[in-house]
Amino acid sequence: MNNIALITGATSGFGRAAVERFVAAGWRVVACGRRAERLQALVDALGADKVHGAAFDIRDEAAMRAALGELPAGFRDIDLLVNNAGLALGTRPAQESSLDDWRTMVETNILALVTLTRALLPTLIERKGAIVNVSSTAATYPYPGGNVYGGTKAFVTQFSLNLRADLHGSGVRVTSLEPGMAETEFTLVRTHGDQAASDALYSGANPMTAQDIAETIFWIASLPPHLNLNRLEMMPVSQSFAGFQVART
Ligand SMILES: NC(=O)c1ccc[n+]([C@@H]2O[C@H](COP(=O)([O-])OP(=O)(O)OC[C@H]3O[C@@H](n4cnc5c(N)ncnc54)[C@H](OP(=O)(O)O)[C@@H]3O)[C@@H](O)[C@H]2O)c1
Repeated sequence: MNNIALITGATSGFGRAAVERFVAAGWRVVACGRRAERLQALVDALGADKVHGAAFDIRDEAAMRAALGELPAGFRDIDLLVNNAGLALGTRPAQESSLDDWRTMVETNILALVTLTRALLPTLIERKGAIVNVSSTAATYPYPGGNVYGGTKAFVTQFSLNLRADLHGSGVRVTSLEPGMAETEFTLVRTHGDQAASDALYSGANPMTAQDIAETIFWIASLPPHLNLNRLEMMPVSQSFAGFQVART
């Protein structure tokens, strides 16, 4: 029975809701994120026997390895890795975007994700565990201002599929989960703290909730061990596709 998950980005949005969902089902969870006080609040609410908070910047490899090395007994044998921590920064066209924002997205969404995955692969193989990588519809569908964010998520999707190929025969399952619009702190972060812009985006749109995504991650992890969901794309009913744009002279 799989019963220990490590969930990144557990201080907010999908990650926090996932911690609550897995603990409600009896799992123990290593909850990761930078905001230690939010991790402590999860531990206080759900119990120190159920949640271990690991506060570190996922881009800091030494801090990541130290946190993994310090896992208490009862939280070490990780069966499920949920690579959820990530962010978009900026909505401007590429030619007006900040290179610093681009670097932060690449370091967080790609480099940190592969570093943590590589560190946990031996445990996951030993335990015939599972990996759920939180990608995005932005991995597949380009949109103006999506530039590097969409590129990082395309990496996450393709890395997930390639992991499956490499893990062939190991029993380890890998899923690329590709959500569309969901209301979390995502847009607040993307706009560098513009609450009005975040409210305007979600207003009247009936977006997905963090709980919708958490329930889906839980469902993926609960499938019988002979099933692998390779990719799962999901959107709110209110969101769909638009056509190509044409520049006219
Ligand atoms: N919301 C959407 O519409 C949507 C759609 C598709 C995909 N996604 C993806 O879903 C994932 C979760 O996003 P969300 O919507 O739940 O956003 P969120 O509410 O902003 O949560 C993001 C989480 O990532 C963590 N994080 C960011 N940078 C980090 C760093 N350097 N070190 C450690 N943790 C870091 C944050 O924790 P700290 O700040 O405490 O470190 C936070 O817990 C992301 O990968 C996002 O790209 C979101």
